Amino acid sequence: WRRPCVCVIINEVDPGGLCLASIGVSGEELTVSSDDSASASSSMEVTDRIASLEQRVQMQEDEIQLLKSALADVVRRLNLSEEQQAIGSRRGPTKVTVQIYLSHSAKRTGTSGSPPASSVEARPATSPQQTSDSSKAGMARKGGATKVPPEGYVKMYLKGRPITMYMPKDQVDSYCLEARADLPSNKLKLDWVYGYRGRDCRSNLYLLPTGETVYFIASVVVLFNVDEQLQRHYTGHTDDIKCLAVHPDKITIATGQVAGTSSDGKQLAPHVRVWDSVSLNTLHVLGTGFFDRALVCLAFSKSNGGNTLCVVDDSNDHVLSVWDWQREDRLAEVKCSNESVFAADFHPTDSNIVVTCGKSHLYFWNLEKGVLVKKQGLLAKNKQYVCSCFVLCVTFAENGDAITGDSSGNILVWGKGTNRISHVIQGAHEGSIFALCMLRNGTLVSGGKDRRLISWDSSYQQIQTVEVPELFGPIRTIAEGRGETVLIGTTKHFVLQGSLDGEFMPITQGHTDELWGLAVHPWKHQFLTCGYDRQVCLWDSSSHQLIWTKSMEDAAQSAGFHPSGAVVAIGTQTDGNFLAIGSHDNYIYIYAVAENGRKYSRVGKCSGHSSFITHLDWSVDSQYLVSNSGDYEILYWIPSVCKQVVSVETTRDIEWATHTCTLGFQVFGLWPDGSDGTDVNAVCRSSDKSLLVTGDDFGKVHLFSYPCSQFRAPSHVYGGHSSHVTNVTFLYDDGYLVSTGGKDMSVMQWRIV
Ligand SMILES: *[C@@H]1O[C@H](CO)[C@@H](O)[C@H](O)[C@H]1NC(C)=O
Ligand SMILES: *[C@@H]1O[C@H](CO)[C@@H](O)[C@H](O)[C@H]1NC(C)=O
Ligand SMILES: *[C@@H]1O[C@H](CO)[C@@H](O)[C@H](O)[C@H]1NC(C)=O
Ligand SMILES: *[C@@H]1O[C@H](CO)[C@@H](O)[C@H](O)[C@H]1NC(C)=O
Repeated sequence: WRRPCVCVIINEVDPGGLCLASIGVSGEELTVSSDDSASASSSMEVTDRIASLEQRVQMQEDEIQLLKSALADVVRRLNLSEEQQAIGSRRGPTKVTVQIYLSHSAKRTGTSGSPPASSVEARPATSPQQTSDSSKAGMARKGGATKVPPEGYVKMYLKGRPITMYMPKDQVDSYCLEARADLPSNKLKLDWVYGYRGRDCRSNLYLLPTGETVYFIASVVVLFNVDEQLQRHYTGHTDDIKCLAVHPDKITIATGQVAGTSSDGKQLAPHVRVWDSVSLNTLHVLGTGFFDRALVCLAFSKSNGGNTLCVVDDSNDHVLSVWDWQREDRLAEVKCSNESVFAADFHPTDSNIVVTCGKSHLYFWNLEKGVLVKKQGLLAKNKQYVCSCFVLCVTFAENGDAITGDSSGNILVWGKGTNRISHVIQGAHEGSIFALCMLRNGTLVSGGKDRRLISWDSSYQQIQTVEVPELFGPIRTIAEGRGETVLIGTTKHFVLQGSLDGEFMPITQGHTDELWGLAVHPWKHQFLTCGYDRQVCLWDSSSHQLIWTKSMEDAAQSAGFHPSGAVVAIGTQTDGNFLAIGSHDNYIYIYAVAENGRKYSRVGKCSGHSSFITHLDWSVDSQYLVSNSGDYEILYWIPSVCKQVVSVETTRDIEWATHTCTLGFQVFGLWPDGSDGTDVNAVCRSSDKSLLVTGDDFGKVHLFSYPCSQFRAPSHVYGGHSSHVTNVTFLYDDGYLVSTGGKDMSVMQWRIV
């Protein structure tokens, strides 16, 4: 999913000028020219010579192309090995390393079931194979003269590498490369978002008067009505949202996002969006071009009708700025701190005072005539208490005192209008206090790393303590809920609801590390997700509830259901009678499956690819397997005997049970211009074969018509994810599809409308 760096030529017109190089309706190509010349029979010899010269030029062009692609590949491999050496320090996401797919038919293919020997050709295992193969295709195309059977194919270049894709026989005559592909008549509507971002964001959970809980994940703000089990989504952002603030009117909301990159390489500037939570309309966009990197803190003023908004960005200086958000006018800005800033808030009764806190700092800022004047909080009281730690959160008491929580577990109270500590609760928590929340009735609630939620009365006497189970993780943020309830967001991505003297139950949960595996149940409204957090989750797509979750010993990369639905394999995928595992070691391993998916024995190891396997699909009858590799090869196999099939006549018309391969005649139109062949991660065809969905490196889900066999086919494009989309899949009945967002850890469910 690396960004493209080498240009790609797709469907280059044949430099020989005879016909479309990319459609190898090869016999015809040359006859076109000889037909023309035949009409001028007197100059037969000349035209013959010209034709033969053209042929030689063409051959040379082909050779040059091959050399170019070989060179590009060498450069790519060199770069790759350099990167792999450097990878030790960097924890970047890796491309799918292992993919496992199951055959879809329950019919067992024995060795006796192999097709006639003529159509099966073993592929020499030597590496120059790629070269000889390609030149063979090239020859075949010009081969009208040499009586090679006509072969309709499309040739596409990714990173200079030619990829030849044969069309089904019945399309050879009618296929037209120039034809326009149609947009699908269906569209997608974001239906449900699974997950909450709690690991590295603060103050990001609130209850709105509409009864909706508001929080975010990826680039989507979720408005979740727990009672009615309904979600709405604000989707105005283009990349990760990092902070959220609710206006005192409880309707207007501000959210801030990180800098991103669009699919055409443009920089997406970090900015704040102010929007209406009832209509979901965007009211204002602030700070495009002003903010740097990301926005980390946001707050509305309280006492002046909420007219001003304070923002801290993630630049080296963590610039604090104050805005008249309705006029989109910046009133003041100042370098806040060269260290991390965790919170910023207006004083509840004096909208000229902003408090910021972070690594070894607590500042009281006074806005005077357009200038923010800093007063440092004195982190010592009678020399008893000195804090060189992190001040992690701030809130205010009814009387205007500021209250802070720090990484040593202390709660400090700061007298209104001063920068001095008036009260200390030392060791209120064991370890960091991540969140403080002042309830309407004057009760202070604190929560932190020790997973305890402690309530304090107005004289800071402890009232109650509850401990959240370890499974849910440390408390990241606290919000007042409906009635007597309290909402908690945790660092393990749970949103919990409960009361100060009772139990907390999850209302939202999600993955906490990179998310890759996705498998849909063969006949139920269910799907399974798994990822590097070692959690496997089975979800009900109708009730949106988690059915079960299980911890694995290792990070999970892929998943698949047995067609009976009785068994699911993780990191591996199970099926009817054969299990195919495409591996990072360039081999495909085939296993025979018995006892309804409970017993596996290895049948063989298919060798032929010169790079790791990226995608696999079974044929409807399980007789064949198609595979794509990291160096853009498309190979066909008879899995029962682990033999490669090179005969085009055999492979071009095979009916595939699924289409998840990113390379192939039926799908090549999904590739955008300038793609390096790694930026589309996942492809899925709908069961009714009318739609194709893809997930790319730019957080986008694309909906195409299927087949997608015209260059640069149009698609409906949907945002929401803020990271590479690692998989997309239609649910079994095509009513919905599900996408997984890699590093953004979100699972999104889309309705097909
Ligand atoms: C090598 O990889 C880096 C990082 O992905 C990229 O910026 C650079 O352009 C690549 N160089 C070549 C020659 O592909
Ligand atoms: C911030 O500034 C202080 C004092 O100038 C310096 O000691 C510290 O290393 C700086 N921190 C960063 C992250 O630049
Ligand atoms: C304040 O509200 C909380 C949560 O609603 C409740 O648990 C607590 O008992 C209330 N305290 C008082 C003093 O009313
Ligand atoms: C992606 O989804 C497809 C379709 O459900 C599935 O076959 C494939 O195994 C999935 N890939 C991973 C890595 O889970």
